[in-house]
Amino acid sequence: MKTIGVLTSGGDAPGMNAAIRAVVRSAIYHNCKVYGIEQGYEGLINAKFKEMNLSSVADIVHRGGTVLRTARSEEFKTEEGQKKAKNVLDVFGIDGLVVIGGDGSIAGAQKLNEIGIATIGVPGTIDNDLEYTDYAIGFDTAINTVVDAISKIRDTSSSHGRVNIVEVMGRHCGDIALYCGLAGGAESIIVPEIPHDIDDVCRKIIRGKNRGKLHSLILMAEGAGSAVEVAKKIEEKTSTETRATILGHIQRGGNPTAFDRILSSKLAAKAVELLLDDRKGLTVGIKCNEIVAVEIEKALSMEKQLDMVTYDLAGILSI
Ligand code: ADP
Ligand code: F6P
Repeated sequence: MKTIGVLTSGGDAPGMNAAIRAVVRSAIYHNCKVYGIEQGYEGLINAKFKEMNLSSVADIVHRGGTVLRTARSEEFKTEEGQKKAKNVLDVFGIDGLVVIGGDGSIAGAQKLNEIGIATIGVPGTIDNDLEYTDYAIGFDTAINTVVDAISKIRDTSSSHGRVNIVEVMGRHCGDIALYCGLAGGAESIIVPEIPHDIDDVCRKIIRGKNRGKLHSLILMAEGAGSAVEVAKKIEEKTSTETRATILGHIQRGGNPTAFDRILSSKLAAKAVELLLDDRKGLTVGIKCNEIVAVEIEKALSMEKQLDMVTYDLAGILSI
């Protein structure tokens, strides 16, 4: 019988609970013992382990957040911290580990592989900033939350004839801004990957106004600068009242969408299957609707590219 551990790490993402449930239930189905590790790598170093059973993951498939909680751990980034983590895993007889988190968490998983702990990564981050997978857990829920918010902002934008600029998450990656800009009919989308020209943004606003448009929505990723600053410039250059809204952590919470629950379940079950096949050093994902497993080193060396086809389409549809 194998013993498997599971932890969530880094920024939380809706769907992490569905992934934990799938790890626990599929491991038990295959006669494994499973430990839930609380608070990511911090809890791993400090042996915050609890044995999981079928009931431990009841009633969580639909909940946001993570029942195992999450953390960022500076200590785990050091060799010393990683050795401590390995020692604890050895004491509990854990043969394999599933790490659910973003690129940092998956980089941490690879460190454990290098020192002899079979570890598989599961991508969980609303930023969707991992090139090797089309979707990470949480992204779909986050974009639905944002689209709901911008529909509301559009109402007030029309009532007042204002420009509304909405800042969304994405430190290095414009996916949330891009997909929500397209889905929400934004006039302009400002992302970190592409330098923006404020005069282009203003020209679009003025053209829209001149043909009788009442609202003007701009989606901006946090990594592209400050929405408040951009709002000031727009107001100056277009003489149109402009408001900035920073959506913030509302994007990280809420019940996961059906898409995220299904994705989480499939990815996490695949991670367990790989550990049972004595595989390690891999991270799972979805590419062209297929569940894939990619070597962590290769996956993390791939630079995230903005989907230019979608970006250009959003530009065409917002002329
Ligand atoms: P995310 O997983 O959401 O990208 P972070 O980048 O904050 O979030 O990473 C989460 C945790 O993963 C960090 O606090 C740290 O403990 C661990 N981690 C990140 N990068 C590395 C690394 N290069 N080596 C070892 N551990 C890492
Ligand atoms: O990595 C996901 C993310 O939501 C980023 O978009 C954001 O910048 C960051 O986490 C904020 O993280 P926290 O508030 O947890 O430090």
